[in-house]
Amino acid sequence: MATIVTIASSPSVASRTDAVLGHIERRLDVRGHAVQRVVVRDLPPEALLRADATDPQIAAVVAQIEAADAVVVTTPVYKAAYTGLLKTLLDLLPQYALRGKSVLPVATGGSAAHVLAVDYALRPVLVSLGAEHVTQGWFVLASDVQVFPADGGVLLSESASRALHQVTESFLTHVARHRRDKVPALDDDDVVLRVSPHDDVAAPLLEDLVVEYGTRYGLSTPHTQLTEVPVSDFEGPHGAFVVVLRGGQTIAGGAIRRHDDETAEVKRVWTHAQFRRQGLARRVLIELEKAAAGLGYRRIHLTTGPRQPEARALYLAAGYLPAFDLHADPESIGPHAFDKELPAGTVLSGASAVPAVPGVSAGSPGLRSYRDWGAA
Ligand SMILES: Cc1cc2nc3c(=O)[nH]c(=O)nc-3n(C[C@H](O)[C@H](O)[C@H](O)COP(=O)(O)O)c2cc1C
Repeated sequence: MATIVTIASSPSVASRTDAVLGHIERRLDVRGHAVQRVVVRDLPPEALLRADATDPQIAAVVAQIEAADAVVVTTPVYKAAYTGLLKTLLDLLPQYALRGKSVLPVATGGSAAHVLAVDYALRPVLVSLGAEHVTQGWFVLASDVQVFPADGGVLLSESASRALHQVTESFLTHVARHRRDKVPALDDDDVVLRVSPHDDVAAPLLEDLVVEYGTRYGLSTPHTQLTEVPVSDFEGPHGAFVVVLRGGQTIAGGAIRRHDDETAEVKRVWTHAQFRRQGLARRVLIELEKAAAGLGYRRIHLTTGPRQPEARALYLAAGYLPAFDLHADPESIGPHAFDKELPAGTVLSGASAVPAVPGVSAGSPGLRSYRDWGAA
């Protein structure tokens, strides 16, 4: 399932463009995607006109777009281009807000003379915002859209209906392909284990975090974040500790503990300096989400610090919603908090969540007290 933000940017409340968007959304919805519509005319007008990114509603929408897997952008054609209303929102997005996303552009217009507006006006700005792939868009003639205000029904001409079907399918193919690519594959000899934080394999992670935090935050004593939470929190029945081993070496890991009855807190996410930028932290996060769901939690809460930009990027890319102003100077905010609802179906049973490790047993050297927590 992908999270797809759809943008409705007609100034009109009775909008043909919104009617077309509703049709597209139904198709995304039946495919099981989470659709989140942003209606630009409902955002605070003063914040839009003043390009005020600190407005809480604007900041929430920007975060929502940044966290999405894909975006559908719709607009009526006004004066041979997209609407000024859409521009007010695009102006508030960070430079690469659409990085890594598939984007479907769709416009409606009164005249076929402006059929190219999607490609000469809208597409360039979407590309400039870093969109990974702007799929083929479509221009729908207003006369091809009949709206029935009494019940909200919409009758599309056969040609418009056929074309919208085709561009939506093509968009969804890109979304699916891209999501598969985004979940990094482990090396053949990588193994993911749920272990005790007291196991030897957990030690490289815990030791290196002392060095990393000490360097970044300039502390001469161990960082309080590392000492105020006992590692025993990361054991059952309310916690879990995950490591990734390659060739027997611990190269990544992370932990969860109880935040409240329904919420797990992610902590200690770490990748060995020699193995960064391979998607290992994302893999760890996926395992931690499965572990949390397996322990009965419904959501994840976490905080990271202002000098961990890679952590912030990881959580945004993984669909976590920031509870802070993304545009504020990181040093001016305290802990950077993120939250995520765990989608239904996250749980995998222990045995499948944690692959069996050939040749590794409780008595193996280096794995002092390995336990398959998922099965416990
Ligand atoms: C101010 C304004 C400017 C417009 N400019 C154009 C235009 O340049 N080219 C065009 O094809 N249609 C133009 N239209 C027509 C709209 O694009 C068309 O009616 C569209 O379907 C309206 O969508 P909506 O109902 O979602 O607002 C314009 C409409 C308005 C109100």
